[in-house]
Amino acid sequence: MSKLLYLNGEYIAEDQARVSVMDRGFLFGDGVYEVIPAYAGLPFRLEEHLQRLNQSLAAIHMASPLDNAQWSEILHRLLQQRGSEDQQIYLQITRGAYGKRLHAIPEEVQPTIMAMASPINRRDPQLVKQGMSVITLEDIRWQRCDIKAITLLANILAQNQAREEGAHEAILVRDGLANEGTASNLFMVRDGLIITPPKSTHLLPGITRDLVLELAADAGLPYAEASISVEELENADELWITSSTKEVMPVTCLNGKPVANGHPGPMWEKMDALYSACKERLRLRTQAGNHCHE
Ligand SMILES: Cc1ncc(COP(=O)(O)O)c(C=O)c1O
Repeated sequence: MSKLLYLNGEYIAEDQARVSVMDRGFLFGDGVYEVIPAYAGLPFRLEEHLQRLNQSLAAIHMASPLDNAQWSEILHRLLQQRGSEDQQIYLQITRGAYGKRLHAIPEEVQPTIMAMASPINRRDPQLVKQGMSVITLEDIRWQRCDIKAITLLANILAQNQAREEGAHEAILVRDGLANEGTASNLFMVRDGLIITPPKSTHLLPGITRDLVLELAADAGLPYAEASISVEELENADELWITSSTKEVMPVTCLNGKPVANGHPGPMWEKMDALYSACKERLRLRTQAGNHCHE
């Protein structure tokens, strides 16, 4: 039997779920989303994801249709279907279907809420070992990249160009500064210092990004939030990209040239171990650490 997803208050088989062609998500990309990993059946960093969801909704002038307890109940019900398997939740809210195709935001419109769970896209162990290859590309996205909007065409085109050029990800550059990847945040290590660009409207405030900074602080690893120029990228000792599903991935090739010695670096190894330990604490549901609970 096909898995159930959540759609507007109901749990429906995935192959039976239907949304109107008049939905503003379909017509305009008028909506926001979240991707939430879950380990051993428990959502990871749920509070942080829901907080960012509420920020995205507020930024597009939508009221949050459900409260955190309601979101949590939906997610847990979806996750239960696959038991303790590691999964990811995709949660999307669009402004909903209105009678007419109208740019102006209608006053009376019911949002379309959809959430589904699927097995997590596991990191390829070979790629973790060898590191990722990235290219830099001009960032052609809009000025509100801090909103997790479903409108992702520029990200898709950049990701596609990276693939066409034999790379795994594109690092997006605006005014000479590297901000983030098409679906990831950016970290650089230089002289023992972990650096990531500060939060701004030019990048998504990644949940993994924040966790990496917290883990660095807890472990006494020096870090800074500072802008990164393309030249600095080229001279980095280490580069990483982060996301909820990629976790912390080493980048060993930049625009066809090796990053430092072309192998994942020692700081990455430390951070990857800290991240795994954090996940493991959730899995074991121990009380260790403040940052790893649901
Ligand atoms: C553009 C962009 N930046 C950063 C991230 C990383 O965010 P998170 O760590 O919350 O998954 C993503 C995640 O998909 C993204 O799409």
